[in-house]
Amino acid sequence: MKLCMIGTGYVGLVSGVCFADLGNEVICVDQNLKKIESLSKGHIPIYEPGLTELVVKNYNSKRLKFSTNLKKSIKDSDLIFICVGTPTKKGGSSADLSQVFKVAKEISLSLNKYKIIVTKSTVPVSTGDEIEKILSKRHNKNKFSIVSNPEFLREGEAIRDFIYPDRIVVGSNDKKSNRQMNNLYAPLISKGAQYIHTSRRSAELIKYASNAFLATKITFINEIANLCEKTGINVEDISIGMGLDKRIGSRFLRAGPAYGGSCFPKDTKAIISTADKFKTNLSVIKSVIKSNENRSNLLLNKIYKILNNKIRNKKITFLGVTFKANTDDMRDSSSLIMIPALSKKGAKIRYFDPTGFKREFSKIRNVTNSKSIKESISGSDLVIIHTEWNDFKSINFKNLNKGKKFIIYDMRNIYTPAKIRKQGYRYFSIGR
Ligand code: UDX
Repeated sequence: MKLCMIGTGYVGLVSGVCFADLGNEVICVDQNLKKIESLSKGHIPIYEPGLTELVVKNYNSKRLKFSTNLKKSIKDSDLIFICVGTPTKKGGSSADLSQVFKVAKEISLSLNKYKIIVTKSTVPVSTGDEIEKILSKRHNKNKFSIVSNPEFLREGEAIRDFIYPDRIVVGSNDKKSNRQMNNLYAPLISKGAQYIHTSRRSAELIKYASNAFLATKITFINEIANLCEKTGINVEDISIGMGLDKRIGSRFLRAGPAYGGSCFPKDTKAIISTADKFKTNLSVIKSVIKSNENRSNLLLNKIYKILNNKIRNKKITFLGVTFKANTDDMRDSSSLIMIPALSKKGAKIRYFDPTGFKREFSKIRNVTNSKSIKESISGSDLVIIHTEWNDFKSINFKNLNKGKKFIIYDMRNIYTPAKIRKQGYRYFSIGR
C-alpha cells in the first residue's frame, strides 16, 4: 500500500518506518526542510533504540522516502496518516488541534481520488467528526473515509510496541476503510496481534482512557508507597502481591518519582477538558493529576529531610534526568522541578545522563553536566538515582568512589537496601 505520514515527530517517524518495514511504500512528510534533509542522510533527531538501523534499511531499499512536498505526497498515496503534535493549549488544559485541522485542510485541497485519512495523533473525542466536516466542504463523502487509529508506543520500546502490540484499535464508521486498515495490519494480526474495530469516537476515547488509567495506576502505587514508608512496609511486596491478581496485573505498578513524558501529563489534562465540554466530572483523573503534581515536592521534602535541611553548598548528583530510561526526552520530567528547586536553595548539582547534556539546565545556577558516572558521583554528599537506565543498575559505588561515603536516594528502587547499607552507605528508596 502507498502511505503518507504527515509529521515526522515520534509517532509519524516510528510508525512510518515500521509500516515500510512491513513492505509498504511510505512517504514521511514534514514542513521542516532541515529535518527532512538530515533524515534522508540517516540522521535521526530522537533517541530510540533500533530506529536508526530501521530507517537506513528501509530508505536504502526505497520503501521509505522523506519529503517536504505535502501536495504531491498526498496525491501519490492511498492512506494518509495525520501524525502532527497535539500539545496542551497555552494557558489552558485542552489539546491544541490547530496543526491537525491545518493538515486536514491541506489534504482536502489535494484529494484527487478516494483516500483513507487516519488520525494517529492523540485527539479528543469528536475530532474525527470535525475533520470529516472540513473534507465534506469540498468533497462527496464517498471520496474519503476518516479513521481513528491511536498509537500506544512507549518511548524507548516503540519499535517493539509497534511489531508486538497488545492491541490494534481502528475506529471508523464505514466498512471499506476498516477492510483496508485490517489489510494494512495483516502481517501483525497473523502474528497474533488483536485487531479491534470500533466506532471512530470510541477509538479516540480508548487512547485517552488508556493513558489516564495507566497514570492512575502509577499514582495509586506512588501513594501506597507513601503509606509504606510510614508503616515500615516494602512497596515492592505490595506491587507483587497486588499484581499477581489477574484483574490488577503487575505492569505499571512501579513506585517512583512523578510520572512524566509527552503523553500522560498532557492526555490526563485533555480528557478532563473533553469531559468538561460534555458536562461530565472525571473526579478520579482530576485527583490523579493533583497527586502527581504534588509528588515532586513530596520527594523534594524527603531530600531536605535526608540532608537535615542543610542544602546550601551540598553536592548533589542526579543519575539520569530524562522522564524515564531509554529516551532523551525531558518533557515533564520530575528532574525539571527538583533540580531548579535544589539549586535555588544553594545546592551544587551535577548530573550524568546516558543521553548527554540537557539545555534545560544550562541557565540554572550551579548545575553542571558530567561525562561519566564516576566523575558525577565523586565528592558528592548525596547521589540521587532518578531514572532506571541499565547503566545505573550495577554500579560498584565502593570501587568507583574511594573518597567519603555519600548518601544514596534511589528513586527507582534499583538496589537492595540491606546490601547497600552493608557497604556503609546511608541509603533511601521509595516506599520501603
Ligand atoms: C506512554 C504510554 O505508555 C504509551 O502507550 C503512549 O502511547 C504514550 O505514553 P511513554 O510516555 O513513552 O508512553 O512512557 P511510559 O513507559 O508509559 O512511562 C510514563 C511515565 O510513567 C514515566 O515517567 C515512567 O517513569 C512512569 N512509570 C511507568 C512509573 O513511574 N511506574 C511504572 O510502573 C511505569
